[in-house]
Amino acid sequence: MQKPQADSIDVKVDSILKIMTLEEKVGQMNQYNGFWDVTGPSPEGGNAEKKYEDLRKGRVGSMLTVRGTEQVRAVQKIVVEESRLGIPLIIGFDVIHGYKTLSPIPLAEAASWDLEAIQKSASVAASEASASGINWTFAPMVDISRDPRWGRVMEGAGEDPYLGSKIAIARVHGFQGEDLAAVNTIAATAKHFAGYGFVEAGREYNKADIGSVTLHNIVLPPFKAAEEAGVKTFMNGFNELNGIPVTGSNYLLRELLKNKWGFKGFVISDWASIGEMTTHGYAKDLAHAAEMGVKAGVDMDMESYSYIDELVNLVETGKVDVALIDDAVRRILRVKFELGLFDDPYKYCDPEREKNVIGSKENQEAVLDMAKKSIVLLKNNNKLLPLKKKGQKIAVIGPLADDNNSVLGSWRIASKDSSGISVLDGLKQYTGNDLMFEKGADLLTNEPTFINELAFNTTDTSGFEKAINVARNSDVVILVLGEHGFQSGEGRSRTNLDLPGVQQELMEKIYAANKNVVLVLNNGRPLVLNWAANHIPAIVETWHLGTQTGNAVAQVLYGDYNPSGKLPMTFPRNVGQIPIYYSHKNTGRPVDPQPGANMVFWSHYSDVESSPLFPFGYGLSYTSFNYSNLNVEKDSYALNEEVQVSVELSNTGDYDGKEVVQLYIRDLFAKIVRPVRELKGFQLVELKKGESRTIKFSLTSKELGYYDQDGNFTVEPGEYEIFVGTDSNASLKTHFILKE
Ligand code: NOJ
Repeated sequence: MQKPQADSIDVKVDSILKIMTLEEKVGQMNQYNGFWDVTGPSPEGGNAEKKYEDLRKGRVGSMLTVRGTEQVRAVQKIVVEESRLGIPLIIGFDVIHGYKTLSPIPLAEAASWDLEAIQKSASVAASEASASGINWTFAPMVDISRDPRWGRVMEGAGEDPYLGSKIAIARVHGFQGEDLAAVNTIAATAKHFAGYGFVEAGREYNKADIGSVTLHNIVLPPFKAAEEAGVKTFMNGFNELNGIPVTGSNYLLRELLKNKWGFKGFVISDWASIGEMTTHGYAKDLAHAAEMGVKAGVDMDMESYSYIDELVNLVETGKVDVALIDDAVRRILRVKFELGLFDDPYKYCDPEREKNVIGSKENQEAVLDMAKKSIVLLKNNNKLLPLKKKGQKIAVIGPLADDNNSVLGSWRIASKDSSGISVLDGLKQYTGNDLMFEKGADLLTNEPTFINELAFNTTDTSGFEKAINVARNSDVVILVLGEHGFQSGEGRSRTNLDLPGVQQELMEKIYAANKNVVLVLNNGRPLVLNWAANHIPAIVETWHLGTQTGNAVAQVLYGDYNPSGKLPMTFPRNVGQIPIYYSHKNTGRPVDPQPGANMVFWSHYSDVESSPLFPFGYGLSYTSFNYSNLNVEKDSYALNEEVQVSVELSNTGDYDGKEVVQLYIRDLFAKIVRPVRELKGFQLVELKKGESRTIKFSLTSKELGYYDQDGNFTVEPGEYEIFVGTDSNASLKTHFILKE
């Protein structure tokens, strides 16, 4: 079937709009949550009676978190058969890192720097979700954040706008595919527009205060990249930005997104965020909030009942121009047409597909592949890793070692609890009888759930002794520690980034019994790991890797897969350093003291080194790589010319392996002070042992320019430095001049 042309869709949209009553139009702008899973504060029972009635009356345009072909068909049937116009619902869901078969959490995927794999992972998620009746995901979250106290860093791509933009594009393409009308693709959402990653002190839902240079150069680029990649919807954030709740930000939504960028899709509010403008102290009541939301450019209201209860009256009393309503409805209907919902409202409701696609072998293999690629080797002294496949007595210790639930990570509403492969189960395939397991301690004292606070075991160390004995009798200890999967995500801010509960104590005791410890970390954010980094010989960052966790970890620990992940976020030495990120400004008195200087007047802390524990872009391999011959083709270039850079990469170690070659620039002086380094290129390169290759980069004005205070993109003549290497501390350096 030929895809409908955009203009023919517009004609159809207009013909529907013409016959709609005002109430039906407002109905399209209303989204309700389903009746069982909740992802936000909800009335008991989900207000089911009212919702059913509104579905029948054409007062609902979308439902979220309804899932399964049977359930989706049931709600769709109500609107199609019982409402006057039968306009199909668009069905939204938080498909964040997989649907039922889970990929690693998004932050972990970002650590792969493997755009192809990330795109594939999103397409697997789309195919499973669409097989379950869903046609719209509230992902990708493209919020840049430099604050690991904020629990939602697990859901993003980390601290860097360049890497974040590339990943945003990969995810949008993965979810939406080449043809949105295909049965296995779904509409994506760029969220949360904008500034949510900068909530003050990392406290969830807090305000953000950022200047225009940070807004335009750090926060907005991944959103713009998603828009250019064709993302169908945007979601606004919960936060206020510089005094204005972004839900009501005319500047962000109307001026920038819709007018300047020309976004043609629609904007969904976050859960109840229109109504929350009253709580913020910005709207005087729900009607006022609805008025500000629609004027700013929010096209659909998620669960605040503000549009459905107030908009008709606001139009009838002349407070809101009906043209704004028409614009919003047009945008929503257009996406419904593009998905093919008007041709067949039940197209995602095929039980046969649901049975065959969800959890398929192929999907399991895809998430395993993604999981291996997401692992970051942080330390490997004495070549403790990879483990030997025979003849090593292995002890597996730690509260998370046999946990098949926590490994799934946060945000996985459709997956079955405890359906992951634990690290212990993954390792058993290799170790057979050479494996001894002792948990040592519990992490929690309550049952973990997505919506409740966790309670930690801070006192019970009664299992330590057995674990210490097992450690003593083994050649190598695999110690699995970290955060519970539900410890990061929405509503999960922390002020302390240490290992929670009694884990630090357990680690120290185990290390005292046997120094050959491999620390396998499970976590949804950067942690503070000084003691471990100073003592434990091998540390492997495995995040929360999803369904196939244990298999991925085992393959890496036993060397069947050589790790190549690189940190997408800086690991601090101390919470007090936060926000800490590689792309900082130099200051007038930079962090570069004279050796032995006893003078205080430079930018530093007197109680901790200023550098991070592990920098952005950092990650080891079982092999080693050498960089040489960094070369920029010419000394100077014209402003619009492409700058050609090359570097020689050699695999100098004992294994075949992959390396993420990273290129950073520094604009030495400019009208706006530029960061000391900015990532502007990377390549994932696979080399056999002993192999060398010349890697080439070209930099265009897109990479060399920046946004000024007014948000205008500019490229300045001047002197630039280039650094290429294995992480953001890359020392190989050259430079060039951009001429007028
Ligand atoms: C609130 C979250 O902020 C948002 O990301 C999510 O998509 C919605 N709830 C729906 O669950």
